[in-house]
Amino acid sequence: MSQIENVLHESRSFPPSSEFREQAHVSSEEQYQRMYAESIEEPEVFWDRVAKNLPWIEPYQTVLEPAEAGRARWFGGGQLNASAVCLDQHLEHNGDKVALLWEGEPGDSRSLTYAELHRDVCRLANVLRERGVSKGDRVAIYMPMIPELAMAVLACARLGAIHSVVFGGFSAQALADRIDDGQCQAVITADGAWRRGKVLPLKREVDLALEGRPEVHTVLTVRRTENEVAWQEGRDVWFHEAMEGASEECAPEPMDSEDILFLLYTSGSTGKPKGIMHSTGGYMVGAYLSARYVFDLKDDDVFWCTADVGWITGHSYIVYGPMANGATQVMYEGAPNAPHEGRFWEICAKYKVSVFYTAPTAIRAFMKWGDEHVEGHDLSSLRLLGSVGEPINPEAWMWYRRTIGGERCPIVDTWWQTETGGIMLTPLPGVTATKPGSCTRPFFGVDAAILDEDGNRLPTNAGGLLAIRKPWPSMLRGIWGDAERFEETYWSKWPGVYFPGDGARVDEDGCFWILGRVDDVINVSGHRLSTMEVESALVAHESVVEAAVVGRPDDLTGQAIVAFVTPGKGVGTSEELKQALQEHVAAEIGKLARPAEIRLTDALPKTRSGKIMRRLLRDIAAGVETVQDISTIEDQDVLVKLRGDDQ
Ligand code: WT7
Repeated sequence: MSQIENVLHESRSFPPSSEFREQAHVSSEEQYQRMYAESIEEPEVFWDRVAKNLPWIEPYQTVLEPAEAGRARWFGGGQLNASAVCLDQHLEHNGDKVALLWEGEPGDSRSLTYAELHRDVCRLANVLRERGVSKGDRVAIYMPMIPELAMAVLACARLGAIHSVVFGGFSAQALADRIDDGQCQAVITADGAWRRGKVLPLKREVDLALEGRPEVHTVLTVRRTENEVAWQEGRDVWFHEAMEGASEECAPEPMDSEDILFLLYTSGSTGKPKGIMHSTGGYMVGAYLSARYVFDLKDDDVFWCTADVGWITGHSYIVYGPMANGATQVMYEGAPNAPHEGRFWEICAKYKVSVFYTAPTAIRAFMKWGDEHVEGHDLSSLRLLGSVGEPINPEAWMWYRRTIGGERCPIVDTWWQTETGGIMLTPLPGVTATKPGSCTRPFFGVDAAILDEDGNRLPTNAGGLLAIRKPWPSMLRGIWGDAERFEETYWSKWPGVYFPGDGARVDEDGCFWILGRVDDVINVSGHRLSTMEVESALVAHESVVEAAVVGRPDDLTGQAIVAFVTPGKGVGTSEELKQALQEHVAAEIGKLARPAEIRLTDALPKTRSGKIMRRLLRDIAAGVETVQDISTIEDQDVLVKLRGDDQ
């Protein structure tokens, strides 16, 4: 019963241009095959060659120690410091190279070279040390997307303190839960954050979160929005005042390869968020290599990853991966539609961005806002595009390729997770023929396969469970404080094999197609359908901007499909449209997938990271009171409206 039917048919394929291929780090199929085969058959040889590029303080003795599943140890005996990998190693030859081109939401900007960033990180590390933070301590970081956020992360790494970044859009309660779980003793924040011209009062949220939490001895606050803040003498320290007197000398703490670099919370399907633990050595090696090869980073690139540092994407592809490669990056503080819907493209043109990495939810928003916001901005500097976070529907992929990429930029659709630390399934832009909606092939060292519940391999094109059958360097090392849940969630389905929780299929070219979370699969009359495929069919209809599909209990068919649909501008909410959409899905996929009910809505409930909250929609579709954790929902109003719309 673990098989998922596969109904989406997509046959378009886009090989890279010879121009792109010739300049790429990995530039032929033969080279990819040779490297991939070595990374799987002789991982010690492959990863040793990669890891040698990092500045180890103490060389490692072993590359991979054979161990039970989930307990693999990488680069044993080695010592390094992640902030030194990102900063110190560049000082001699590239100190004056720009590390960050930062753009504030109100239109202010700053640029920082590697030498300047190094200086500020050293000073900040000294500030933290003077406040009593040392190796192994946990520090919560709750900040807007400002350069000080990257500094905070790297300053913790420099001291060997474990950072726990909490996305600045989360509530005081969510912050408090994470501070408690990680037993954090210091918090780095800002007075406020700019969001669509308004101030989000971050320091006030921190004050709320810390009520009754005297264990937190330090709150370091950056002045950003200059809103009034309450002050607790002894505990609260202004960032700028503390930095003024701080020394610029700070030797990086030598960290064992397996020492924890950071915790990052990800919401599980039930219950409290999991503090995913990442190591220093393996994580850095994985972030370094994937950033280099997937984004084909070169010395003169300007890389822009639009994610927030509060997500794993920002950890691995704003801070650690690109900086380990000495890249120049754009960092943007605000919303994509502030003050206008063309802001991203204005920024791309201003800084001549060459490699751009964003999420499908953003791409669909740009499509909805209209091409007129893209036109008029010179996007000719772009050479490579990326996507991450959800399956990207072919419509959005084609729009991205055409409207943003000018038909010339390869698109890397990268599948990975907070838990995997780095990209796992992806095209290599100089080699792989890309297909709209497919994340294509495994990255180096990733032994991916499609299995059924019993661990049997499924044939080509059969939908099943995605599995990773060998350890990889940037894999999670555990869940903070919950070893049992770690085993149970990721390592208990099949012996020795990692279970990511996603459904997928592999086509005849060896390309992977992610079918979404296994928990979301809908069972209609015994046919297991992927939500992603039905949604994709809906979005392909000209009147639809976004769609989310869930199952509702049905006496006859087990489950019936309910589709929540956001129509385009001026389409209205007519019965005809609903009917047209039902027929459209039946024609595209088959009668089986015809939604029993279509609900039109202006917006879908999403997490702060842009993922549609299907579990919540499931409760709404079934008409039951939800017991889901809704604290991470982006816009609470959406929920109220959806519940009211019972037709
Ligand atoms: C889940 C992980 C990895 C950084 C952001 C999300 C889904 C992620 C893709 C993709 C299809 C994708 C999966 C995965 N996902 N990337 N390219 N195609 N699905 O990190 O919050 O840990 O979520 O996001 O379902 O398991 P995350």
